[in-house]
Order: sequence, then structure tokens, then C-alpha cells
Amino acid sequence: MLPFDALGGEPGVRALVERFYDLMTLEPGFAPLRELHPSALDGTRDKLYWYLCGWLGGPQHYVERFGHPRLRARHLPFSIGIRERDLWLECMRRAMQETAVPAALATALEGSFFETADWMRNRSEP
Ligand code: HEM
Repeated sequence: MLPFDALGGEPGVRALVERFYDLMTLEPGFAPLRELHPSALDGTRDKLYWYLCGWLGGPQHYVERFGHPRLRARHLPFSIGIRERDLWLECMRRAMQETAVPAALATALEGSFFETADWMRNRSEP
């Protein structure tokens, strides 16, 4: 089964993204990550949701709207080291836990998220 379907399709991916940015906003530990983002997150929520639908094997909403994601280039304006990478991954891990993503699926996705987040690093210091 596609990860997209295992997550519950569009409503499941939406719930995950909402929890991810809610946690980023609510948890003081994620403040250094939150501060990189705009104060209003509506557009950011939509973009990650559209992107993840395609990334997980579902509809290519992001590509249909914006073309090739060029994700690494789009992250170059933000200073991303090991610290930001690990905060992002921890925030996503918590969001998966709190939206009841089955443990085996969450573990598999954590590995794939790591690959993508690590590729986004653009600062050599931690
Ligand atoms: C490694 C740590 C990461 C940091 C610090 C980070 C931070 C950011 C920031 C600050 C933005 C701009 C938000 C905005 O202007 O609305 C952004 C956009 C985005 N991020 Fe990340 N991100 C990280 C990893 C990831 C990962 C792993 C993914 C995908 C799995 C991802 C997907 C996206 C997408 C799709 C956008 C929207 C791009 C666009 O403007 O079209 N990010 N990210």
C-alpha cells in the first residue's frame, strides 16, 4: 500500500501537517525552528500538505501548482544545520505520534524524512 493511503489519504496528510505546525508553534523547544518561518503559517501549511501528498505517493498537488519543487534551493534562504534538521525531524516524529500514525509506518517515514531533511542542510556548523 502507498504510504499516502496508509496515512488515510488527504485527510490523514492534512491532519499530520496541521499537528506539525501546531506543535512547532506551541512547544517552546521548537522555537528556533518556528522563528525561521513567517508569522502567519497558512500558506506554509498548504505547501507542505500539497508537497507531502505527492511525496507519499498520492496526488501531485504541489507540482501541479508550482512545477518542480527545487526543495533544496527553496531552503537556501534559511540557515539549516544539524540543529534545525533534528528539530524538524523531532517535530514531525511527535506529529506522527500524536496523529496516531501506525508505529511501523512512522519508523519507515522517519527514515525517508531524515534523507530529505539532511539533504536540506546548507550550514556546516551544527
Ligand atoms: C531540515 C529542516 C527544515 C527547515 C529548517 C525548514 C524550514 C522551512 C522554511 C523556513 C520554509 C519557508 C516557509 C514559508 O515561507 O512559508 C520552508 C518551506 C518548505 N519546506 Fe521546509 N524545512 C526543513 C525541512 C523540510 C523537509 C524535510 C521537507 C519535506 C519533506 C520540507 C518541505 C518544505 C516545503 C514543501 C516548503 C514550501 C516551499 C515553497 O515555498 O514552495 N522542509 N521550510
